[in-house]
Amino acid sequence: MKSSSPILWVSLVVVILGAISGCSQHEGEPKGTATVASAPVELREGEQKFNANCSLCHGIGGVGTTQGPSFLHKVYEPNHHGDEAFQRAAANGVKAHHWQFGDMPKIDAVKPDDVDHIVKYIRWLQKQAGIF
Ligand code: HEC
Repeated sequence: MKSSSPILWVSLVVVILGAISGCSQHEGEPKGTATVASAPVELREGEQKFNANCSLCHGIGGVGTTQGPSFLHKVYEPNHHGDEAFQRAAANGVKAHHWQFGDMPKIDAVKPDDVDHIVKYIRWLQKQAGIF
């Protein structure tokens, strides 16, 4: 079939433009979902602990799920949520305040040392995604 109909081309362009501008308008959407690449060796421990204890809600690669927010968001960059905020979240849990996901329970399975590793891994993910 020869698709030289101008209407077809116009609608194709509209669809493509729509897709492009649609993406950039979603402020809250995680940038760069290509970040699920494997972490450098020194971050593997953090990656494993994150995947085991946090990814259920925060998503593999920190992209978020229906249970919890993405960390690839400006709100979680170091100046807004310093490393202390991660220690507090894991130790005490978090009352829902930024989003509509509900509360985060405290995560008994991780110790402050583990959270240190997890934070390093999350900061790396955020750097990859250009958050800071
Ligand atoms: C059962 C789901 C769940 C798990 C598991 C989970 N979180 Fe969360 N987390 C949430 C939700 C939901 C929020 C958002 C609360 C809000 O601000 O509305 C959140 C928020 C946070 C925040 C932001 C706290 C603040 O001060 O605003 C940090 C930091 C965090 N989580 C770290 C972690 C870490 C680290 C782990 C793993 C050790 C983890 N979370 C595991 C659900 C979860």
